Formats: sequence, C-alpha cells, structure tokens
Amino acid sequence: MLSPTASSPARSQSFLDKTESRELRVGIIGLGYVGLPLTLLFSEEKFRVTGFDVDERKVSTLTDGGSYIYRILPEEIAAARNSGFSATTDYAGLAEMNAIIICVPTPLNEHHEPDLSYIENTAHAIAPNLRPGQLVILESTTYPGTTEEVLVPILEKENKLALKAARSADDGDNVFHVAFSPEREDPGNTSVARRDIPKVIGGLEPLATQYASALYNSIFNRVVPVSSPAAAEMTKLLENIYRCVNIALVNELKLLCLRMGIDIFEVIQAASTKPFGFQPFYPGPGLGGHCIPIDPFYLSWKAKEYDFHTRFIELAGEVNLSMPYHVVASVAAALNRQKKSLNGAKAFVLGMAYKKDIDDLRESPSLTIIELLQREGASVSYNDPFFPTVGRGRKYDLNMSSTPLNRIEEFDCVLIVTDHSSYNYPDIVKRAKLVVDTRNATKGIKADNIVRC
Ligand SMILES: NC(=O)c1ccc[n+]([C@@H]2O[C@H](COP(=O)([O-])OP(=O)(O)OC[C@H]3O[C@@H](n4cnc5c(N)ncnc54)[C@H](O)[C@@H]3O)[C@@H](O)[C@H]2O)c1
Repeated sequence: MLSPTASSPARSQSFLDKTESRELRVGIIGLGYVGLPLTLLFSEEKFRVTGFDVDERKVSTLTDGGSYIYRILPEEIAAARNSGFSATTDYAGLAEMNAIIICVPTPLNEHHEPDLSYIENTAHAIAPNLRPGQLVILESTTYPGTTEEVLVPILEKENKLALKAARSADDGDNVFHVAFSPEREDPGNTSVARRDIPKVIGGLEPLATQYASALYNSIFNRVVPVSSPAAAEMTKLLENIYRCVNIALVNELKLLCLRMGIDIFEVIQAASTKPFGFQPFYPGPGLGGHCIPIDPFYLSWKAKEYDFHTRFIELAGEVNLSMPYHVVASVAAALNRQKKSLNGAKAFVLGMAYKKDIDDLRESPSLTIIELLQREGASVSYNDPFFPTVGRGRKYDLNMSSTPLNRIEEFDCVLIVTDHSSYNYPDIVKRAKLVVDTRNATKGIKADNIVRC
C-alpha cells in the first residue's frame, strides 16, 4: 500500500510525522562514494533505506554484507542491514519510497562538456514509479539550472499519473516535490564529522525545502535552506571553484618559488599564522578526484549560454593541467643531473590515489604522469597500498600491478605523487638512488638525493 504525502496540510504533516517517527522510506540512487555513506547515516538514525544501483557487483556485495569502499567497514553495512537497509538494481521499488535521493556521477565527456547522461537515465527510471507527494532530491554536483531544466522536465513528461512538480503551495495534491542539496564531503578528511558539515538545501517551492530540511535535519546537525535549487547548485560550484582557483594560484607561485630558490611550503606555513584573511592551499602534482578538476567546467559550459566567459576558471584549469608536465620535466632534469636520461630510465611512482590515504583513482594526476613518463621512454612501476592493480578506466588503460616497496633500490628514480601516511619516508630516501617529491612528503629530511618539485 502506497502512502502518498502531498501539499494538503494533512499530507504535509504526514511527511513530517513520518520523518520524525522514522516510518519515512528513503531511496538512494547511486551507491558510490556519496550514496553509500549517506545510506549509512540514514540507517544509523533508524530510517529504512533502499539503495538502487545499476552496478550488480556493488548490489551483491552489499547484499552479502560486504563493502567496496576502504573507509566503510563490513560491520557498518551489517548494522545498516539490521536497520532495514537493502540494495537492489530493480527500480520498481522506488514507488514505495517517500524520499528519493539521487547520487549518480556527473563527469565531463570527451569534449570537456557536462555529461548529464547519468542524471537523465536516473530520471527516466524514476518517472514511471513517481507517486503523489514524493520528494525527489538531486545531490550530484552540477551547473545551476540542472534540477529545473533537466530533471524536472523528464519526471513531469514521463510519469504515468500526470503529476507535476510542485512550484507553489497552491498546486494541489497531484504533485511531487523537488529539491537540490549538494554533497560537500571532503574524502579522507577525518577532522570534521560528516554530520557536522551543514547541508545546503534549495527546494523548488517552500514545501520541498521544508520536507528536505526535516529529512536532512534527522542526520545532519545543521541545514542551510536557500531560495532555489539553482542557488544550491551554484553554492556547491562556488565552493569547488574557490578551491580550484586557489590551488592553481599556489601551484603557480610554487613554480616561481622553485626558480627563486624559495621553499613554498615554508612560505605557506608562515602565511598561515595570519589570524584572518588567509586560508592555506597546497601545491601538488595536479588536480584529482571527481570534483575539483571537473565541477568548475560545468559552470564555464553553462556560462557560455549567457555570453559569459569564466576567465578565472579557465586560467586555473590551464595552470593545474600543466602540473603533471612540470613533474615529468622535473624528473627528466633530476635524472640529467645524475647523467641519466628519462628515456630508458626505471621510474617508481609512489601513490596512485588522487590524494593521501584514500582509495579513489578518479582523475588522479598519477595516471597522466605515468602516461607522460612512458611516452618519454621510461619504464614505469608503481606502489599504492590501496590499489594492488590498476587496469582500465575512463581515461587510462594501464594494466599494472603494485610493486612491493622492498624493490626500491632497482629504480633510477622514485617519484612521490601521493603522500600516503603509511610510507616510511626516511627509509625510502635512504634506499632510493633519487627521490623526486611533489608533495613535500620528505619535509625535514636532509639528503642529496631528494629533489622537491
Ligand atoms: N566523491 C566525492 O567525494 C564527492 C563529493 C561531493 C560531491 N560529489 C558528487 O556526487 C556525485 C556522485 O559521486 P560519487 O563519487 O558518489 O560517484 P561514484 O561513481 O562513486 O558513485 C556513483 C554510483 O552511481 C551508480 N549509478 C550510475 N548510474 C546509475 C543509474 N542510472 N542508476 C543507479 N545508479 C547509478 C554507479 O554504479 C555508482 O555506484 C557526483 O555528482 C559527484 O560530483 C562527490
């Protein structure tokens, strides 16, 4: 029996009461790095969650009580299952959900343009199962306008009950509700608990914001309502563009500091003592992850529709994209100083993940760096405790296995791309012929074989 909730006072009370009593059924679409932790938060608060994913392997792993994300333990999956969590590839169950939260990927296509196919496919799958009073929330990062211009039209056109998205409180009961609420997690950052990251929410109308706020208030300590889905979409992009631009700035200053013989990390540390007006960002071998290298370009693309050129984003992209090339040039120069050429050298890349202590390879600069090293004739091996093998992805085809650290002496150059905490840097420096360090991982170690770049 379906339990519709909609915009009549009784129905809206029903949604809020069910949230309070935990009878509210929550469906989460996309059980990846965002959707699975979100599932666990709802489960911890005793909501009965159903997870929907097209990846049968993930669904069966979860059904068997396992986990495929390093920082999520099987015990946590087992606890969620005890709270009623189940995973499925069958969308029919969406009809039973009161709230449906979409956490699917939003990558760039080969032309560096937004690829909304995952959101569109999800919308096509939700539409036939839409019921009056349901709340649909998009969490995937995207350009302002996506919720209203892409998601809502598909849901309105393809649902079987002629339902409309509620746009005002007077829209009656034959409606569903829509909001956008960005995921703001910082993977690997254990200093802020997920619950303490305030949740920004922009509903299509006040009731959607009220429902979504009530729902997220159950699992987050603070919600931040904004006036529209577009404002919430733009909030997420502002945060990521701020990061991208500042990383580019510090990457550029690092290149200058290298020429001037100044240690950029020392400078950042000193500048960080200013109690206001300065936030430290750190240089590195290039951007990685599913967010910072990608999200800004969602906005540049959308801005063109308004005859607007987002110059900061383009410039930051240019600087950040050049960093892997700088790293490879630094390796070649360092080998040259040892009277060796990159062509024919044996290079050992430490750390494949895009940042330390996480099991995420997406857009990692290590992938570009390996490709560039190989193109110059180097023979490349890697080590990463999180990746025993690296096969084929959207933009790479490496087919490599992790080489044990005890073979470090065999290599002409050890290149630290990702500074995982488990590495013993003094030992690495002691045993390597040459160390090129892109992360300041060897800070404080004095040795002639270290080149910091
Ligand atoms: N990973 C992060 O740290 C992070 C942080 C903030 C925001 N985001 C944003 O969140 C969104 C999701 O990112 P993620 O890292 O969780 O991606 P992910 O690739 O880890 O997970 C996405 C999941 O969606 C599934 N999926 C794809 N199409 C589907 C469909 N049609 N129906 C059901 N499931 C489908 C995939 O199989 C996968 O399990 C993206 O928009 C991303 O930009 C990610």
